[in-house]
Amino acid sequence: MWRVSILTILPEVFPGPLSASLAGKAMAAGAWSLDVVDIRAFATDKHRTVDDTPAGGGPGMVMKADVLGRAIDATASDDRPRLLLSPRGVPLTQARVEALARGAGLLLICGRFEGIDERVIGARSLEEVSIGDYVLSGGEIAAMAVIDGCVRLLPWVMGSTASSAE
Ligand SMILES: C[S@@+](CC[C@H](N)C(=O)[O-])C[C@H]1O[C@@H](n2cnc3c(N)ncnc32)[C@H](O)[C@@H]1O
Repeated sequence: MWRVSILTILPEVFPGPLSASLAGKAMAAGAWSLDVVDIRAFATDKHRTVDDTPAGGGPGMVMKADVLGRAIDATASDDRPRLLLSPRGVPLTQARVEALARGAGLLLICGRFEGIDERVIGARSLEEVSIGDYVLSGGEIAAMAVIDGCVRLLPWVMGSTASSAE
């Protein structure tokens, strides 16, 4: 089974459109699975704070390094690619989507605010991926696009459709 784990502060938006049509049928058939992790559950203060001012300075707020680090450590015990959705990331291509669909699955991290604390990117070996040259308000819709692009290439889905190339 192709396994996806998503880390987000908005777990309620999943599976959203991924529960419909072929992706939804493929999930129901056990071709892929979705594990939604609420980053806020790893905050330790009574207000469940997930944002902070950037450690290196700069405007706005970023997702806290300690909270996000704990969420990643609790979720990612295998070697699935760890993708951080980011407008500054490497643009996603069809070739990359095909390679990801051939693998074991994905760990997807959805940013919010002005992004995430930079220290987590290196410390947890995150790969920054962009779905286009524009800025969304959060990584959730970008994560859905990545998953949708991969799921349509899974063997179970391919067997149910005419052509993935088209
Ligand atoms: C308002 S944006 C952050 C913008 C911030 N100035 C930066 O450069 O990362 C909040 C979050 O949305 C997601 N996001 C925004 N645009 C995206 C894109 N084009 N591709 C992938 N993720 C995106 C990322 O997870 C990002 O952390």
